[in-house]
Amino acid sequence: MELNLSRSVAGKTVLVTGAASGMGRATAQVFAAEGANVAVTDLPGPALEQVAADLAAQRHSAKAWALDVSDHAAIRQVVDDVAATFGGLDAVVNNAGISAFCPIDDAGYDLIWDRAVVVLLTAHQRIIRAALPHLRRSTSPRIVNIASTEALGATSRDSPYCAAKAGVTGLTRALAVELGREGITVNAICPGPIDTGMTANVPDADKATFAHRRTALRRYGAPEEVAHITLSLCLPASSYITGVTIPVDGGLMARNA
Ligand code: NAI
Repeated sequence: MELNLSRSVAGKTVLVTGAASGMGRATAQVFAAEGANVAVTDLPGPALEQVAADLAAQRHSAKAWALDVSDHAAIRQVVDDVAATFGGLDAVVNNAGISAFCPIDDAGYDLIWDRAVVVLLTAHQRIIRAALPHLRRSTSPRIVNIASTEALGATSRDSPYCAAKAGVTGLTRALAVELGREGITVNAICPGPIDTGMTANVPDADKATFAHRRTALRRYGAPEEVAHITLSLCLPASSYITGVTIPVDGGLMARNA
């Protein structure tokens, strides 16, 4: 077997979900800056258009697609359209996400649970299944699923989110094993506390206290610090890493005291 140890994604095509904000936006920017064609997908709205416009203004190859990842029918349509637009699809980054805090005794628990599972877990497998015919034609097919340190440990009253994210790590391992013979790599990243839209309503003082007490690096991470690991997993040279779950958490999981 001939190895391709290129450290470039130039000319590759990546589809990023939830790319209008936070880590998804940073991922789109990092890939675009490296010369990849980027399918910027998110819920419809000005934030999505703005990310694509910013990338186009920098003469990057990027286009926006409105895609609600809980809309089963829309997934295949958008994935196929992305592949047709850019002449293929090499990588998928399943990143779109929502918070899903809910105490187990809450009357609305089932609603939150169902939404968490659909958006955070079911969408991943649906997008992967839609992307597979295209990934199978790529010379460096890559799938990166964004889970969370909540897949590895747990915060009280966060069980729908924790369960869905743990599901993402299981899905990642299972598909890595199933698709490995085809050279398709499937990996998960578990971000720790990252400054994004999702954590925007946490007061700065609380963030600082939490980061100081819990992370080795004593600070929240920037979305770009996660995006660069995602990019690394998508390099042609990253061809012998699959089925892993990588914390990108400033040492949160490593720290006991
Ligand atoms: P964010 O809120 O800044 O971005 C999430 C994006 O997902 C938004 O643009 C939102 O519109 C989009 N989204 C939500 N529901 C969607 C749907 N049904 N269809 C399409 N797009 C949808 O949050 P962040 O932090 O950048 O989140 C990215 C991923 O990272 C999520 O999966 C999240 O669970 C995960 N994560 C975040 C952490 C953090 O500290 N910020 C920690 C660990 C994991």
